[in-house]
Amino acid sequence: MSNAGTVSANQLELAPGAAIPLIGLGTWPLVGPEATDAVTRGIANGYRHVDTAEKYGNEDAVGEGIRRAGIDRAELWVTSKLSLAGHARSAVRTVYGEALKRMGLVYLDLFLIHWPNPQLDRYVETCAGLQDLVDDGLLRAWGVSNFKPTHLDRVAAEGLKPAVNQVQVDPHHLQRSQLEHHAARGIATAAYSPLGRAGAFLDHPAVTGPAAAYGKTPAQVVLRWHLDSGRVAVPKSASDARQRENLDVFDFALTDSECAAIDALDTGAGPRLDADEYGH
Ligand SMILES: NC(=O)c1ccc[n+]([C@@H]2O[C@H](COP(=O)([O-])OP(=O)(O)OC[C@H]3O[C@@H](n4cnc5c(N)ncnc54)[C@H](OP(=O)(O)O)[C@@H]3O)[C@@H](O)[C@H]2O)c1
Repeated sequence: MSNAGTVSANQLELAPGAAIPLIGLGTWPLVGPEATDAVTRGIANGYRHVDTAEKYGNEDAVGEGIRRAGIDRAELWVTSKLSLAGHARSAVRTVYGEALKRMGLVYLDLFLIHWPNPQLDRYVETCAGLQDLVDDGLLRAWGVSNFKPTHLDRVAAEGLKPAVNQVQVDPHHLQRSQLEHHAARGIATAAYSPLGRAGAFLDHPAVTGPAAAYGKTPAQVVLRWHLDSGRVAVPKSASDARQRENLDVFDFALTDSECAAIDALDTGAGPRLDADEYGH
């Protein structure tokens, strides 16, 4: 299996000079001033990675939050995602420019295809358009989201390699074959809904046991499990205390057997939405 990248400190190097912080701040479903405040607060709380998307309708508010935080742009990793209008090689550059304009930024660190939309059948050429942006020095890295192995295979057949696939992973939705496919192709996994939207597994002894042992909360144990499994995670919280809690996961580590016990909570269920049926 090829390695998806090198982990150092609290970052994963996706490409030379492009290291994604392992914990990012999710921003869906925040919009308007709530999104701006959450992002400004998150950056003040130490987040250096923010996750947004055209579809969330908050890129402008997230950009405002970044400006208000007054942080050096080079210190921050910003991810956004394109929707249907960007599904063509020639359209990628246009929707990228529009995203930058909405956010008030001059570049993104990572731009993802939000959904493969296989009925449109343009996701392979859209990947080529994203690679063009990286080749032209306009974007640091590109990736995909919600791509199944069949979609990734078609992308790979054209010699294209996304740095990341952002997919739904939590202890009840481990998506083992999906994750094995990423590992085999050297694609990093970013877990969305990493806390299962405060899922019932937070009360399971496989989670509460390590939490008690390490003096951490169940959510911190689940986030640490993602990191110890080699994944990036983008938990969303608008709350000051929970934002800090979710970032405070770098001073402990789970043992292999503790990780395996959390893996064993997998229900085998697929993600909430089927990427062959749903998209935008
Ligand atoms: N690529 C995609 O298709 C896709 C799809 C869905 C989501 N995403 C991304 O992933 C991010 C996170 O996913 P998500 O929002 O679905 O789920 P999540 O991060 O697993 O859960 C968020 C929920 O859990 C609560 N929460 C946060 N930290 C907590 C803690 N420490 N203890 C207890 N509860 C906590 C939050 O409430 P409070 O805000 O009140 O803390 C919120 O209700 C999104 O914001 C978005 O950026 C991507």
